[in-house]
Amino acid sequence: MALTITTARSAPAASKILGVGVFSDKDRPSDLPSALLDSRGFDAKLGKTMIVETDSGIVAAVGLGESSELTAQSLRIAGASFARAARRHKVAATSVLADALAGTEGIDQATAAQCLAEGLELGGYTFDTHKSKANKTRYDLSKVTVVGSTAAAVKGGIEIGQAVAAGQMLARTYVNEPGGTLTPPEFAKRVQAMAKTAGLTCKVMDLAAIKKAKLGGLLGVNQGSTIHPRFVELTYSPPKAKATLAFVGKGITFDAGGLSIKTGTGMMTMKCDMGGAAAVAGAMSALKAAKVPVRVRAYIPMTDNMLGGNATRPGDVLKIRNGKTIEVLNTDAEGRLVLADALSLASEAKPDAIVDLATLTGACMVALGPKIAGLMSNDDDFAAKVAAAAEGAGEKVWRLPLPVEYKSMVESPVADMKNIGGPHGGALTAGLILQEFVGEGIPWVHLDIAGPAFTESADVETRKGGTGFGVRTLVELARTYA
Ligand code: BES
Ligand code: MN
Ligand code: ZN
Repeated sequence: MALTITTARSAPAASKILGVGVFSDKDRPSDLPSALLDSRGFDAKLGKTMIVETDSGIVAAVGLGESSELTAQSLRIAGASFARAARRHKVAATSVLADALAGTEGIDQATAAQCLAEGLELGGYTFDTHKSKANKTRYDLSKVTVVGSTAAAVKGGIEIGQAVAAGQMLARTYVNEPGGTLTPPEFAKRVQAMAKTAGLTCKVMDLAAIKKAKLGGLLGVNQGSTIHPRFVELTYSPPKAKATLAFVGKGITFDAGGLSIKTGTGMMTMKCDMGGAAAVAGAMSALKAAKVPVRVRAYIPMTDNMLGGNATRPGDVLKIRNGKTIEVLNTDAEGRLVLADALSLASEAKPDAIVDLATLTGACMVALGPKIAGLMSNDDDFAAKVAAAAEGAGEKVWRLPLPVEYKSMVESPVADMKNIGGPHGGALTAGLILQEFVGEGIPWVHLDIAGPAFTESADVETRKGGTGFGVRTLVELARTYA
């Protein structure tokens, strides 16, 4: 059920819970029974909530941590922890979060409201499509009133936050759907339906169109599958747009590794291998509602990576859309093959900049762990812009180099390059391969989201499974690019 978030000067009588933000280093607001909270050991750490019943009703103390450490991201976490507390308390109808959260020092009102709304929405996300009826989630938080200012800036911030969160939750759901359910034709169909309601134009290439377009990387990866590939292009084109961005997302709906087959354990989470595609589609879904002023084109190659009798063999050579050839020595390094086609196509339209998102390498997870994306780029200014957008969005990225010294690692004796490097620096050699397919002079950022796209440990803002990582960064980039 959709969550309604409104604003009011004071808490409506119908509200079932009053959420109140608490800093760990400041006096408790007077709405809260301080002694009771102390006796139950409430410590106001960020992400902690405690629900207590008072004479005047139920209140939720929402920890904000130290006041000097408060960031926009703290507001997302606080919003999410409140939403989850309300839900645990089986409050479906009405809840209120007081203004201690909105309009906080150093963070403008609109941003605070946006982040709070994002948290409230994301904290309530569940994926129970495949649970039997008895196990479906019964308690949805359906109405929250943000108490305090009713200024247009606050309302506008809430609206943007809800749009961005909806995009992120859509991305989570795409990722959470099993690979056998969200096949490329099904994925394309869902994205096409989304495009209609999100004010986007959508073009879907089927197998015949993909052959005609000479997308040799996508075709090569698809060869081992009985399910046809798709290539989806989305366009958001607001009136008077002065710049054009391109978003590219890896859409491997299931990665078995191909003939260079993965281990059983290695495959268990590989429905997440379309996390880049999911983030791109999710971000696109939010652009209109988030009033993004620039044009954005999205390019999403979709296939699974299977090992049927006609599968690409190690040693085969594929010809990518832009004419360059790649010797496939490991069929499990398939992401770069489909992205090579997509980056070539994206470059042909001569956008002002390109960002690609891909669950590309285990090596990037080794380097940066499960929560931080690797950022690689051919352009320092654009890299800084994307990093700033990620910072604002509360998504962690860290820049990695694209060393020319390592180009020799992907040289091939029979083709223009091979699809794997040596045993070390795997995230970087993958990035170097992608760079070969970015048009001359186009600023480009590659985000390797192999770590953060999927999580096996839930936290306040995120449940186990798809995270929707990248959606917020992409929308923030598009909002601030011009
Ligand atoms: N989809 C995987 C990367 C991945 C691994 C994503 C773990 C999320 C979690 C990618 O297609 C892959 O298999 N990469 C190989 C490349 C290697 C064969 C050069 C890898 O990282 O092992
Ligand atoms: Mn792979
Ligand atoms: Zn993959």
